[in-house]
Amino acid sequence: MNLQTTDLLLLADEETVPGKTKIPPRKPKWYDTFNYIANPDRFCHENLKKYGPIFKTSVFDGTTVFVGSARTNKMAFNGDNKYTEIVLPATTMEMFGEYSLFQRPDLHTQRKTALASGLTGATLAGYIPHINNIIYQGIKTWGSKKIQLYPAVEKISFNILTPLLLGISLKDSDPTTFEGLPISSKAELKALYKNYFDGFYGLLKWKSPLTAYGRGIKARAKLIDFMGKVIKVRLEKGRSINPTQDFLSMMLVSQQKKPDGIFSDILIKNQCLLQLWASHYEISGFVSSLIYQLGKYPQILQRLRQEQEQILGENNNISQFSPEHLKQMIFLEATLKETLRTLPPSPTASRQLTKSVVLDGILYKKGWTLIAEPRIAHIMPEHFEQPEKFKPERFLPEFNEGQMYKFIPFGGGVHSCLGAQMAMVISKVFASHLLRMFEWKIIGEPKFVQFPIKKITDDYQIEIQRKTKN
Ligand code: HEM
Repeated sequence: MNLQTTDLLLLADEETVPGKTKIPPRKPKWYDTFNYIANPDRFCHENLKKYGPIFKTSVFDGTTVFVGSARTNKMAFNGDNKYTEIVLPATTMEMFGEYSLFQRPDLHTQRKTALASGLTGATLAGYIPHINNIIYQGIKTWGSKKIQLYPAVEKISFNILTPLLLGISLKDSDPTTFEGLPISSKAELKALYKNYFDGFYGLLKWKSPLTAYGRGIKARAKLIDFMGKVIKVRLEKGRSINPTQDFLSMMLVSQQKKPDGIFSDILIKNQCLLQLWASHYEISGFVSSLIYQLGKYPQILQRLRQEQEQILGENNNISQFSPEHLKQMIFLEATLKETLRTLPPSPTASRQLTKSVVLDGILYKKGWTLIAEPRIAHIMPEHFEQPEKFKPERFLPEFNEGQMYKFIPFGGGVHSCLGAQMAMVISKVFASHLLRMFEWKIIGEPKFVQFPIKKITDDYQIEIQRKTKN
């Protein structure tokens, strides 16, 4: 895929649009937002079929152009500081806080580069024993019964992520783990996050305890206070901090080395708040969708189990994974990607054009918003053969589908997801344990919550059966 910047014509204000330039098809309709939110899969599918992968709508106000082809996705992802900006309502920006990666495009690269070292590469590899242990301890308690899929997965994700990101292991049975913190149970922290989460999508942007937004803003303030206390407790312990132990440690050590650098106190607190928020909901949604998809396709389960046996042997007691083991799980990786293709957890980039641009003879006008949608890109026959089929093989090297900008569950370009590697590691370890310890059956079809993150509704149950004694 080669999109030179010269392919993209940036127009100065008042500059004449070249002859024969077209505008994207479809007239925006007043009810587009309602239809999109009610059923985004159907909205994308029907419009793709009728108009192709680029079409105009009025989703979220103004003119919003949905795009799905690799070239237009690339255009949408890489316009920062040149022809696009992230425009979110002021109220949403307030929920993110000034120190999110979205707020200051001028500082974005510098901040992102600094944060990456706490979430990727060797540091992430060092997290694997912890990830493994928590997942193993968590699913060991599942037994043989019906479980509510999403809440069961979410509980484990939370226990994985609080130590990895904040360096704390909260245990309701041990009050000392809450010492110095303004909460006394995990449920309290989760409730704050839930209010924060709901606050983003409250319709009434009025700061009152009567509105979801008001409660969200209040929860945000309490979460920032909580993060501040976590940091205080850590620093008071006085021990030297190992920067690879968790995400917070990485930031604290960087701050100690360079007190006037990127990692100010408020940036650290805000990043702790946001990363736990994003990762916890995204990973829980993803892993529960994976378990559901595998329950639907027994022949894929069988192939995955064979792969597990080849890599880990028949020893079901194995409780250690090396990064090397994970790398060898090629079919599992392909299955994870196929889950992300078919049930992408996140709608992706939404960017407003600060200049008019022309790409491939189509005009995208200044002021319009571009939405690069995985729900379009992932079902285009030009990107994926027989897209309606659940076929992990497509991601194996011999088929080589899922190239950059065609497969976009983690976005792409300058804002691509910083936690993608972590999400893949956690879900691989999760799946590996499940495959070796359990049989499971889905019970009927789930309903999905679609926004802001696609997830199976809390009441959906699956039946699980313990295979072996682990
Ligand atoms: C299955 C799991 C996940 C999915 C599907 C996902 C999806 C995404 C998407 C689509 C974007 C791009 C948003 C845009 O362009 O507007 C993004 C950005 C981001 N994600 Fe994730 N994410 C996941 C897990 C995580 C985790 C585990 C973390 C951190 C611990 C994380 C941290 C971030 C950050 C920091 C950004 C912003 C990058 C930037 O603005 O430069 N994500 N994610």
